[in-house]
Formats: sequence, C-alpha cells, structure tokens
Amino acid sequence: MKPVSLIQFLIEERRAGHINAELSLLIEVVARACKRIAVAVNKGALGGVLGNAGTDNVQGEAQKKLDVISNEILLEANAWGGHLAACASEEMEDPQPIPDMYPKGQHLLLFDPLDGSSNIDVNVSVGTIFSVLRCPDDVVEPKAEHFLQPGTTQLAAGYVVYGPATVLVLTFGHGTHEFTLDREVGSFVLSRRDIRIPEATAEFAINMSNQRHWEAPMQRYIGELLAGTDGPRGKDFNMRWVASMVADVHRILTRGGVFYYPLDARIIAKGGSGKLRLMYEANPMAFIVEQAGGAASTGRERILDLQPTALHQRVPVFLGSRQEIELATHYHREA
Ligand code: AHG
Repeated sequence: MKPVSLIQFLIEERRAGHINAELSLLIEVVARACKRIAVAVNKGALGGVLGNAGTDNVQGEAQKKLDVISNEILLEANAWGGHLAACASEEMEDPQPIPDMYPKGQHLLLFDPLDGSSNIDVNVSVGTIFSVLRCPDDVVEPKAEHFLQPGTTQLAAGYVVYGPATVLVLTFGHGTHEFTLDREVGSFVLSRRDIRIPEATAEFAINMSNQRHWEAPMQRYIGELLAGTDGPRGKDFNMRWVASMVADVHRILTRGGVFYYPLDARIIAKGGSGKLRLMYEANPMAFIVEQAGGAASTGRERILDLQPTALHQRVPVFLGSRQEIELATHYHREA
C-alpha cells in the first residue's frame, strides 16, 4: 500500500469534515517544530544540550537545557503561523500571547514541550505532549481563564515520542492514529490507523517506590496484581515504568496495559492534588487513550469531565486498558 504522509492524512481529515483548514495548518506547524526538537534530542552530548539550564520552571522544578530549547522551538514555530490566539506551556507561568506583528487564529495550544526530561541525560525516551482548544469567540486577548475548558472540548491532542524512532500520535476525536518520522524524507508517515487498546491486560506501570504513601484502594488494587496466580485476580501481572509518560502511554497504545500516577499521602501533605498536570498531560493523554478504546480517570472521575480550575492544576492519572481502569476506579469510589 502507498505510504500516507501526515499532510495527506490532514487533507483527508479536512475532506471528511473532522477539522478545518486552520487546525490542519496548526498541526503541521506543531509537527514541524517537533521534528526540530527531535534533531536537538538526537544530537545528545554532541549538541551541548544535556544537563540543567540553571533555572526553575513555574512548578519550581529544575529546567533541563532541552526543556528550555523545546519550549522556545514550539513558541517560535507557532507565533507567526497565524493559527493561534495564544499558547500555554508547562514551562511558563502565564499564557503567551501572539505578538501583534503576526495574524491571530482561533485556537489555543497547550503543551508540555519535553515530558520525562529527567530521562534526557541517560538517553531514555522523552516526548512532547499537546492539546488544542478553541478560543472563545468574543475573546481577543486570551488569559489563563480562557484555557480552563474541560478535556471533552479538546479539538485535537497528540504527543511525539523521541525514542529509537520519532513517533507522532494524534487524535481529532475520530480515532487515534500513529505516524513515524521518515528521517531520510523528513516527513511523518502514517504507521497505524485507528489504534485499539485491548480491554484486558496483564501489564501495569506505576512508580512502586511510592507504595507506602498510596491510599488504601490503590494499595488493595496493586496488592492484588502483585499476588499473581495465588491472589484474587488469578493471573500473573508484569510491571514496567519508564518514568516518561509518553513512553509508558505509547507502550499501552502498542500492546495494552495500564498507567497509574495516583494521589498519595506525601503529595497531600504538601498540599498537592496529584503529580501530573491536567491541561497539557492528563487531558491530551486521556483524549488519545479514550479514542483508542481505553479509559482514563482520576480514580474517582473521568479525566475529560473535570472542570479545570488552574492552568497548571495537577491531578491523579489512571489510564489504559478499560477493564483494569474500571476496576481500580471502582475500588476508589467504593472506599
Ligand atoms: P518530568 O517532565 O518533570 O520529568 O515529569 C515526568 C512525569 C511523567 O512523564 C512520568 O510518568 C512521571 O513524571 C515520573 O515520575 P516519577 O519520577 O515520580 O516516577
């Protein structure tokens, strides 16, 4: 079969009435920026891009040089494109307006420019996560409050994983699709259309070192998985934890599985509400996973139904194979 490029795919989506021309062009710009990030990531030590930038982001986390570079690449690429009203990033406290010298569009873009950045220096997969919303019609200069829309309103979501291959996963609410970067040609090529996550799985991803801090329902659920054939589940489960959400989610979209970053006593003691960010991590991943037949919850509610209260809000994240997410969520609701 003839390969389908991302551009061809976007044209098909426009013809099908799933997206408009502006959204199609916006995704092209994001994909082009991610190709530049891939080049910077791939250079590694030779590009002088490893290590800390010597600054902290809005969350008080030490920024890696590649966090800063990736953020700048995405901002610069999108500023002049004419498809955006504003963008917001994990690395910036407030949304970035589009400079007056450029035309403005109707979309809001949110991104985590380089997720899993603690993995950069050890040459393990990292990624970019993004979410696209519509700017409210009457708003000329969008502020943080205009981004606070539930995940169900997302027009598009995607991530790029910079691994052995650079892979883009994308949804417009009509299935989840995967594109692999052909480095020689320089374009993303459709590699899987309509990805489906199996409903059942025997593989889970969680940072087990936090076990002693988890709430009782999480202790119960993971305890049952670990009990294997002798426990109530009657089967053995395997565990994986890359510590890059993009890589863990990509494995789930490839062979099934579940990912958990639950609330725990340590997070609560610090006044927190989760580890992962709702607007540019949990929401886009939940949209992608649901469109592939999986489920995504906070343990209590469907992630996509949450009404956001802050741009950098954090939430617990459970996502992946439907049967497991439903069981873990059931244990939490019951408790
Ligand atoms: P960061 O972008 O700050 O490196 O955070 C990564 C996120 C997510 O990608 C990953 O699943 C999780 O944090 C890992 O957290 P732990 O280090 O606590 O395992």
